[in-house]
Amino acid sequence: MAFSIFSRSPSTIADRCKSDQATKLRLRYAPYYHAMEAQQGTTVRLQGRDMIMLASNDYLGLSFHPKVIEAARAALLQWGASTTGARISNGSRAYHVELEEKLAAFLGKQACHIHAAGYLSCLSGVAAFAQKGDVVLADKNIHSCLWDGIRLSTATVERFSHNNPGDLDAVATSLPPETPKMMVVEGVYSMEGHIAHLPELLSVAKEHNCFNVLDDAHGFGVLGRQGRGTADHFGLTDQVDILCGSMSKSLASTGGFVAGDRDLIEYLRTHGKHTIFSASLSPSQAAAASTALDVLQTEPEHLERLWHNTRRYTAMLKSLGLDTWGSETPAVPIVLGDKQRAYTFWQALMEKGVFTVMSIAPAVPPGKDLIRTAISAGHTDEQLDRIAEAMAYALKKA
Ligand SMILES: Cc1ncc(COP(=O)(O)O)c(C=O)c1O
Repeated sequence: MAFSIFSRSPSTIADRCKSDQATKLRLRYAPYYHAMEAQQGTTVRLQGRDMIMLASNDYLGLSFHPKVIEAARAALLQWGASTTGARISNGSRAYHVELEEKLAAFLGKQACHIHAAGYLSCLSGVAAFAQKGDVVLADKNIHSCLWDGIRLSTATVERFSHNNPGDLDAVATSLPPETPKMMVVEGVYSMEGHIAHLPELLSVAKEHNCFNVLDDAHGFGVLGRQGRGTADHFGLTDQVDILCGSMSKSLASTGGFVAGDRDLIEYLRTHGKHTIFSASLSPSQAAAASTALDVLQTEPEHLERLWHNTRRYTAMLKSLGLDTWGSETPAVPIVLGDKQRAYTFWQALMEKGVFTVMSIAPAVPPGKDLIRTAISAGHTDEQLDRIAEAMAYALKKA
């Protein structure tokens, strides 16, 4: 076959993947997949240098809490490293059921099912309930796991503009009333830090007879009484059909949950492919999450410190004139507006020993290239001072 350097269109899957521009960019700048050599709370070591972690979702700073660590260690010794199986077959343990009951009671729902990843929970929270012929009305800024859930459900999708109940109403009104509908939103948007306009969204959903799914990965542990989440914050838990979330943020573990009426959770357990055919949460991770959930309820100082730090941090960013996209929560983006500026800003922070994550289009809308930061209860006053200095330095550079 003739070969020309001018016709380099990839002919195999391997060629296509190997010539991918995003991969090349990553290899050139390497701003992702940093492997840290050590960690102690909000301090991480990277290439031999101690840095402040400002990109973790450990909102309450519990991942190094002595009780959480001890519980995980004890569970490892008692139950081993893994269940090596799905809940439906060999992978169910008493501690799974205990954690589910505890979470359901905390959230104010009848029942709960936990998965080995938050991604799996939120994906299943949509995919198990929607089906072909339904229409899913989705906020256009929802997380990738929810989009995957929608796609796998084979339902039709209609997007409405971000956090906009009026647009949800317009889209729902354009559909036949008899079509089964589902609204999918987040409680706190992971990238933007926005709190969902839940009262208005739920009211529109109810008017149109929409089943609703709320992903509260970033509201859980952060909003509501003792951190019960966004629905609790608004006093609307009973209006939410499916409440899903992650245990890899405020609960300092991994895994996720889907909570709702008992019949719905039983339906998930018998119809959700991703629930049925995936191995269960490991003993140490379940124990860590379960103990973190106790700590949440017995040590209010972590939530108080989180909000103290968040207020101080966002006030500092505002005083520098940085654009935080109107974030109202500890998930705080710094919008720089273009890739190069975001990269320069990110690099300057790294230089000053502050670890953050750069997020550029298409992961964010064009013109919203940003640095994602997240505040933790674990940040000390001294760290917040150093972060402020680093921000001022990065702003000068960018
Ligand atoms: C909104 C949202 N939902 C679900 C997930 C998935 O959770 P996990 O990373 O624990 O799998 C994330 C992760 O960042 C998220 O931001």
